[in-house]
Amino acid sequence: MNLRDIIVRKMDLQPWTEGEKIPWNEPDFSRRMLKEHLTQQHDAASRRTVRIKKHIEWIDRVILAGSPSQILDLGCGPGLYAARLAARGHSCRGIDFSPASIEYAVKHAPENCSYTFGDVRATEFGSGYDLVMFIFGELNVFKPADIRLILQKACAALKPGGKILLEIHLPEVVEQMGNQPSTWYSAESGLFSAAPHLCLMETFWDEANTIATERFFIIDAASGEVTRYAASTQAYNQAQITSMLRETGYGEIAFSHTLTGQPASEADEFFVVSASRPLETA
Ligand SMILES: C[S@@+](CC[C@H](N)C(=O)[O-])C[C@H]1O[C@@H](n2cnc3c(N)ncnc32)[C@H](O)[C@@H]1O
Repeated sequence: MNLRDIIVRKMDLQPWTEGEKIPWNEPDFSRRMLKEHLTQQHDAASRRTVRIKKHIEWIDRVILAGSPSQILDLGCGPGLYAARLAARGHSCRGIDFSPASIEYAVKHAPENCSYTFGDVRATEFGSGYDLVMFIFGELNVFKPADIRLILQKACAALKPGGKILLEIHLPEVVEQMGNQPSTWYSAESGLFSAAPHLCLMETFWDEANTIATERFFIIDAASGEVTRYAASTQAYNQAQITSMLRETGYGEIAFSHTLTGQPASEADEFFVVSASRPLETA
């Protein structure tokens, strides 16, 4: 793409049509993103260790009632949750399609912890889990049909009575995301490119379907070449999540403000839902 393509870009951008999400699975991007997962400067790609430890304590004590469990972590990133849960005596498997994250996770895996590099839509989940988790709002970034597929696969992978644990973007946070003013920055090197570049960002809000779409144009300073990325995030309220979970086979749906069980603070961007695969009836 070139600068002219920016000038003639679509202004009625339809969700998911120019890209589904930021390129987590591109090898170079994933190496740069790994640094963002591991930094203790912010909570953007993964939470800082101090918060993750509180989440692990709550998941272990409240969701798993402290009993040794088989856990599947979808979109596990560099394994910051799976490794800590395994260190507490659980058996964990993580799935992610970021090559650098999976490489890091495998390198730092304790016993009872394994990882699969793959897209959660296409990768076999296996079976017999007590818990399947998909946290940090990543579920909102999938198209509704993909969400249903992931929820159905997760339900089939759980033991009867096993739980799914999801962290979903607060609807008002998604709406804010879709109504941000256009902005731009310049960088010698950054997440989208290791070389000097400009990043132009704009967002679109689809009010009818409550979907925020973010579009990024990365302009290489040396060549002027333009690369475009886009990501769409759909807002769901508790009632919509409840019906999606019921339709995909779950019962005992329960909401919580945060992954620590504590009330949400102003900075919190997610709500938490757990649900169970029903026990088989004779
Ligand atoms: C916001 S990060 C959260 C990582 C991790 N759960 C954590 O909290 O530290 C989202 C993760 O989902 C992964 N992801 C996104 N879409 C995916 C897909 N279709 N298949 C597998 N992994 C995916 C990304 O590569 C990334 O590691």
